Amino acid sequence: MNHYFEIKDLKVGFKTFEGYKRALDIEHLAINKGESYGLIGESGAGKTVLALTILRLLAMPPTVVESGQIIFAGEDLLTKSENEMRLFRGKRISMIFQDPMSTLNPVFTVGEQLRQVIQNNRGLAKKEAERVALETIDLVKLPDARNIIHKYPHELSGGQRQRIIIAIALSCGAELLIADEPTRNLDVTIQAGILKLIAELQRDLKVSVLFIANNPGLVSAVCNQVAILQEGKIVEKGTVREVLRNSVHPYTTALLRAIPKSKQDKIDLKKLIASGEVSNGGCAYFSRCLRRQDICSSKCPTLNLLGGTHFAACHLNGERGEL
Ligand SMILES: Nc1ncnc2c1ncn2[C@@H]1O[C@H](COP(=O)(O)OP(=O)(O)O)[C@@H](O)[C@H]1O
Ligand SMILES: [Mg+2]
Repeated sequence: MNHYFEIKDLKVGFKTFEGYKRALDIEHLAINKGESYGLIGESGAGKTVLALTILRLLAMPPTVVESGQIIFAGEDLLTKSENEMRLFRGKRISMIFQDPMSTLNPVFTVGEQLRQVIQNNRGLAKKEAERVALETIDLVKLPDARNIIHKYPHELSGGQRQRIIIAIALSCGAELLIADEPTRNLDVTIQAGILKLIAELQRDLKVSVLFIANNPGLVSAVCNQVAILQEGKIVEKGTVREVLRNSVHPYTTALLRAIPKSKQDKIDLKKLIASGEVSNGGCAYFSRCLRRQDICSSKCPTLNLLGGTHFAACHLNGERGEL
């Protein structure tokens, strides 16, 4: 099948003082045009490294791309020169970073920042870029665009700032939007509004979205397809129904259980995932897995098709059991 966006055998690591450290080892991940794909993983799983590798924003060294392909609209981004990458970054592929405050410049109004990006990327005259900036603010459903453009970032709420960042990301007609934990620092009620906006924009503008989150609940609100990233590897992937409603990997199940449904139901992840021995060449989840077997310590499982589009990398191979 010809996917619009596809990652194949991607291995990325860092040279550190303690030696070489592999951060990503992704066999395969594919996003169709106009599809919303969720990537879920705990802090440190490699989510941001993946996003920055796609946009080629990591410094080399210390970053090393050992192997792999990142195919976007038929072209391998890993083979592009820095000049060629400028034609993709912020134009065809946009990114919303984790922290809205660090993305916006505090000394310029949001209108000036939006206009600058539009002028630079689309080669429009100032007046025309101002008109597009106003349209884009309407697009992200911020009321009173003519007033908002004169505000400085600190004069806006967290949710309003994140909407401006989404406006900047989409102002140049991006085909792929990478959203790296876009609601991380927002209140729950504001989060819901931003998620709804991303889902609506994805549908209306037909952009493909790589939606990165550490919380499976957020992903199911926005995405059709999901992958679970654990220590740089995808351990389970498929549709939201397959992976989040019918998870088979003990890691996915533990992640899902860690979502508190009510105050009484709060589960302590540390209690749930007992720490133990360190695996040697085996499954990265071995030491924390409550369903581990002998083979798991020595042999790393690869992604196996369980049915439909549901893949899991686990020696249990879909066999369910209680944790
Ligand atoms: N510049 C770097 N040098 C060395 N290690 C790094 C660097 N950037 C990230 N890492 C490591 O890569 C792993 C994944 O990090 P990251 O992608 O930021 O995680 P997250 O899933 O929370 O976004 C972490 O173990 C982190 O320490
Ligand atoms: Mg991150």
